[in-house]
Amino acid sequence: MKRVYNALHLKRALILKELGIEYIDPIEEFKEPEIDLPNSLNDLKDLVKKCYLCQLSKSRKNVVFGEGNSNAKILFVGEAPGVTEDNTGKPFTGRSGELLTKMIENVLQIKRDKVYISNIVKCRPPNNRTPTAQEALSCKPYLQKEIDTIKPKLIVALGETAYSYLTNDTTPIGKVRGHIFNLGNYKIIPTYHPSYLLRNPSAKKEAYIDMLKIKEFIN
Ligand code: URA
Repeated sequence: MKRVYNALHLKRALILKELGIEYIDPIEEFKEPEIDLPNSLNDLKDLVKKCYLCQLSKSRKNVVFGEGNSNAKILFVGEAPGVTEDNTGKPFTGRSGELLTKMIENVLQIKRDKVYISNIVKCRPPNNRTPTAQEALSCKPYLQKEIDTIKPKLIVALGETAYSYLTNDTTPIGKVRGHIFNLGNYKIIPTYHPSYLLRNPSAKKEAYIDMLKIKEFIN
């Protein structure tokens, strides 16, 4: 019952905040909502499609749940859906998705549908802004459940936002990329986000090295 109460409290607090009503808890003190989540990815997806825990639910066209192999050894985590993903309801289907697919298929030499791909938040932030800490926290239990269901050998954090929301480590991506860290029961490796690589093609060389490290770790 306490979990349901916490989730309802969070939802009500967010609505009050949007109405301009001051309340005592600073946003930073929000805890992840403790909701009992289903153990099957399909049931989880159905539940997330009906999520209204944060303000991103108001402007989304589609919820973008993770997709791929439920037994994947590698789980990629991006930041948030963009316009193409919001339209299609599938992660990484725009230009950065095309690049991610090439990185997976050409460097790791596995089909995209053999890995699992998800995001920190499942709804598109307006104007592609970075998800707020509060939005990331509201959505975190869903990602955590995806991770705990799939139990990947390696989590690949795409970009600094995904890395910092997953680990609470705010070290710049350039300093941590290509290193494998412990994350609870899991291993995580940060690398550049494909959209960063599209804007900064010279960083592709480092991303290539990171992908080789991922390949070596998995095999
Ligand atoms: N960028 C992301 O971080 N995720 C997507 O799904 C698409 C673009």
